Amino acid sequence: MKKKIVIANWKMNHDFYETTSFLRNLLKFFFEKKINNKKKVIIAPSFPFLHISNQILQGSSLNLAAQNICQMEKGSYTGEVSASMLKSIGIHKVILGHSERRKYFYETNDILLKKIKIALKYGFHIIFCIGETALEREKNEQFLIVKKQLEETVFHCSLEEISDLIMAYEPIWAIGTGKTASPEEAQTMHRYIRSLFIDKYGETISKKMSILYGGSINDLNARNLFSQEDIDGGLVGNSSLEIEKFLKIVQS
Ligand code: 13P
Repeated sequence: MKKKIVIANWKMNHDFYETTSFLRNLLKFFFEKKINNKKKVIIAPSFPFLHISNQILQGSSLNLAAQNICQMEKGSYTGEVSASMLKSIGIHKVILGHSERRKYFYETNDILLKKIKIALKYGFHIIFCIGETALEREKNEQFLIVKKQLEETVFHCSLEEISDLIMAYEPIWAIGTGKTASPEEAQTMHRYIRSLFIDKYGETISKKMSILYGGSINDLNARNLFSQEDIDGGLVGNSSLEIEKFLKIVQS
């Protein structure tokens, strides 16, 4: 059976103290409650705290991911963080394609493809986000949009390159709005995304691929979302910032 995956995307939240105390409490909880190994929990703190976070979680079943990497390998790119830098502190997972990166930092599908290729070159596991805006859904274009996002990015990868890929469907209208996609709406889109992977890469790999849902997941709606056939877990923003809420989601 596929492991359910829950990812806490902390975005630009939590300072040093908040990050370290959250992780210590999380570890304690996992240890005491013996959380079963049918789930995989990944935390994505901000860049400055990845190193200390890795030291805290060393030897545990909890994982870390970076929220971004630079599409360039190294050199004069002030303010950027490279894949090799992250690798040198033991980080091997990265979230790419998030709609906030696309919107506020102008990351196009072209740029994202470069980021994917660099991440793969350095052996990263990629969590790749796609999703439509409210207007696109109103016009019933959500399937076209998601297909285009895939065709211009991950579909440029080989079968081997996508073997560890985690996909995340994050409808933009649901991110940080409190408006979640209904379990049926999300399931329909997840099934569609999986069908696109099946057409491109075949059944074996596509059925094994984890497709997560993201967008206003909370402790009340998580269970219904996660029980859908093609929803393999969640990418959680706001509700991952408070440990009690996050743990309820993990236990869903
Ligand atoms: P919210 O859970 O705050 O809607 O954010 C979702 C998200 O963007 C996760 O990457």
